Amino acid sequence: MNQEINKERLKFVEKQRKKYPMRWGRRSIVPPWIKMASDAIDIHKNVFFSEQGFGFQWNGKEYIRIPHVGNVNLGDKVEIYSGTNIVRPTVNDTTIGDGTKIDYNCHIAHNVNIGKNCLIIAGTIIGGSVEIGDNCYLGIGCTIKNKVKIGNNVTIGMSAVVLNDVPDGLTMIGNPAIILEKKK
Ligand SMILES: CC(C)(COP(=O)(O)OP(=O)(O)OC[C@H]1O[C@@H](n2cnc3c(N)ncnc32)[C@H](O)[C@@H]1OP(=O)(O)O)[C@@H](O)C(=O)NCCC(=O)NCCS
Repeated sequence: MNQEINKERLKFVEKQRKKYPMRWGRRSIVPPWIKMASDAIDIHKNVFFSEQGFGFQWNGKEYIRIPHVGNVNLGDKVEIYSGTNIVRPTVNDTTIGDGTKIDYNCHIAHNVNIGKNCLIIAGTIIGGSVEIGDNCYLGIGCTIKNKVKIGNNVTIGMSAVVLNDVPDGLTMIGNPAIILEKKK
């Protein structure tokens, strides 16, 4: 749904872009564990790169805080908007793929991998260790349960709460999220 080409709108946008050339920049403090694929990455003001993820292990008496020491790789033309929080992974590096855009006030927990050309709309919460494929669209304020795997070309509707893995190409709505069946 997000990648349909509206020729008229595209023509207008290309004209506007020519008039107002794209500027890439870093307007937040970017720590060294954020590895950038290119200079064409846009990080807006007040993006939070959180060094310590909210991960604990109970030892029978108390919670031991898990060290977070991985890197996050940002692909070419990634854009991250204000108020969004990107959490450092525990051990293995994670990736936000080329061309993915993350809107205002999203939470990307530790160990989350996101594919290429995804649009993640405002207020979305992605739980720890979630995997998201390429060309996905996550609508306003959706919530993805930790460890869920979402395939390629998936659309998640506004406010959906996704509890289980989602295969390629589906649209999910509601709480708990179910497949939106297309009317014949
Ligand atoms: C899920 C979504 C992609 C479906 O779009 P669509 O295919 O055009 O579907 P329709 O609007 O025709 O709705 C189909 C049915 O699903 C329901 N529905 C649509 N979106 C829903 C949602 N997010 N949650 C619950 N039900 C939803 C509709 O009420 C309708 O139900 P009905 O058949 O019983 O009348 C869309 O509604 C959505 O949530 N898009 C995200 C929007 C967004 O985040 N925009 C940000 C812009 S800044």
